[in-house]
Amino acid sequence: MSKKVIVVYCSKTGFTKKYAEWIAEEIDSDLIEASKVRINDLIKYETIVYGGALYAKGINGLKLFLKKIEEMKDKKLIVFFLGATPLHEGIKEEVINSNFSKEQQESIKFFMLRGGFNFNCLNIMDKFAMFLLKLKLETKKNLTPDEKGMLSSYSRPIDFTDKKYIIPIVNEIRNGIIKDNYNKEVIFYD
Ligand SMILES: Cc1cc2nc3c(=O)[nH]c(=O)nc-3n(C[C@H](O)[C@H](O)[C@H](O)COP(=O)(O)O)c2cc1C
Repeated sequence: MSKKVIVVYCSKTGFTKKYAEWIAEEIDSDLIEASKVRINDLIKYETIVYGGALYAKGINGLKLFLKKIEEMKDKKLIVFFLGATPLHEGIKEEVINSNFSKEQQESIKFFMLRGGFNFNCLNIMDKFAMFLLKLKLETKKNLTPDEKGMLSSYSRPIDFTDKKYIIPIVNEIRNGIIKDNYNKEVIFYD
C-alpha cells in the first residue's frame, strides 16, 4: 500500500529484523537494513520507522541513523526497540531518556517490544560481554525470575517475539496516513 513509509532496522541476531519484516509486510512499506540506507533514500518518505535492539540500554545503530535524518524535520518518526528482558514502563522511560533529547522525544513515537536472546549467534565481543554477565549472575545470591531466565537462555535460545506486538505500531503508522484515505483497521491476532 504505502510506499510513503519505510522501515529501517538494525539487527544482530535476527529478532529486530523479524519485527521489521512483519511491520513492512503489514503496511506494505519499503524495508531496508540500516547500514544500507542513504540520506537520499529517506528523503522521499513521509513516515520513517526505525527499529533496533537494546545493547546495554543503548539502541543498536540509533546514533548513526539519527545523524542521517537530523535535517528532516517534516517526517513522522517512529522508533521501536526491543530487549531480552520483560517489558516494563520504567525501562521504556529510562531507555527513551538516555537515548533521545527532550526535543527528539517530543517529535518521535516510541514503542517497546520483546525480543529474545541467542548466545550462539552473537559476535565475539557480545559473547564476551554476555559471558561476564553470566559470571556475575552465577555468583549472585537470590536471583530474580528474570535473571534465572536469562541464565538458562545461554544454553538454549529464547524467543519472545510475537506478531501481535506490532499492532500499536501499525496503528500509529496508519493514523499518520489516514489523510491518504487509508483507514483500514488492524485485523489480526487473538
Ligand atoms: C552485549 C548485550 C547487551 C544487551 N543489553 C540488553 C539490555 O540492556 N536490555 C535488554 O533488554 N536486552 C539486552 N540484550 C539483549 C538483546 O537486546 C536481545 O537479544 C535482542 O532481542 C537482540 O535483537 P537483534 O538480534 O535484533 O539485535 C543485550 C544483548 C547483548 C548481547
